[in-house]
Amino acid sequence: MSDKIFFVTGIDTNIGKTFASLLLLLAFRQKRLNAGYMKPVETGVDINEDGSKNYIDGNYIKNIAGLEADPRVITPCAFKAPLSPYAAARFEGKTLCIKDIIFAFYELNKIYEYIIVEGAGGMLVPLKRGHFIIDIAKYIGASVILVTKAGLGMINQTLLNIEYAKCHDIKISGIIINNASDEIDESVSSNKETLSEFTRVPILGDIPYLREKKHLHAPAVLRDMALKYIDIEKILI
Ligand SMILES: Nc1ncnc2c1ncn2[C@@H]1O[C@H](COP(=O)(O)OP(=O)(O)OP(=O)(O)O)[C@@H](O)[C@H]1O
Ligand SMILES: [Mg+2]
Repeated sequence: MSDKIFFVTGIDTNIGKTFASLLLLLAFRQKRLNAGYMKPVETGVDINEDGSKNYIDGNYIKNIAGLEADPRVITPCAFKAPLSPYAAARFEGKTLCIKDIIFAFYELNKIYEYIIVEGAGGMLVPLKRGHFIIDIAKYIGASVILVTKAGLGMINQTLLNIEYAKCHDIKISGIIINNASDEIDESVSSNKETLSEFTRVPILGDIPYLREKKHLHAPAVLRDMALKYIDIEKILI
């Protein structure tokens, strides 16, 4: 397993994997580490009039971080239907090709020494018959970074994901707590401490809710957030 390849998964879809991946990437790059990003499979991707694809996560991160890699290599598999990769591919009468993902990964690895690879949804999202999204981490030799929410239910969901990983020989290198919503419940103030009492997996960050939506697209603000809220020393060897 490589200590320079990280697969970012989440306890759920829409939990902030892309946002956490971006801050991780910016933290790496501000340390002058040659780091890139990959989103192997994305669904809900529209096709433009010229035939190009409107990659959502890949284009967002490529633009903010100023990555030179080709968007089609960053996202080698894209499907239109906003379903699991398995169901979205089937909708188009296709089967996802894992070799395309591995080939693109090696292409990116020629450019970048470190790669943050973002999954789709959570670990057990179906990819193709007999394969789940988390299997990609194994195929490319990545350790996993788990993004979790801040509020009620996060301890249970985070520990379930960690237990699954343990049972399936998947190494989780770190957890990132992300406040993707401004709804704060009473558990938010104690969850981080409680979680660290129940797992030895290091908590790499606790990202606050960003109230100013325009800041989600402001590279300077995001670079500052990366330095302030993400501790990559815990995963660098
Ligand atoms: N800390 C935050 N503050 C404010 N908004 C956030 C924060 N984290 C995430 N968001 C917003 O929440 C939404 C979901 O976040 P994001 O796209 O990162 O989730 P995801 O887990 O990558 O989703 P998907 O499963 O679709 O890939 C986005 O609109 C994002 O801009
Ligand atoms: Mg995403």
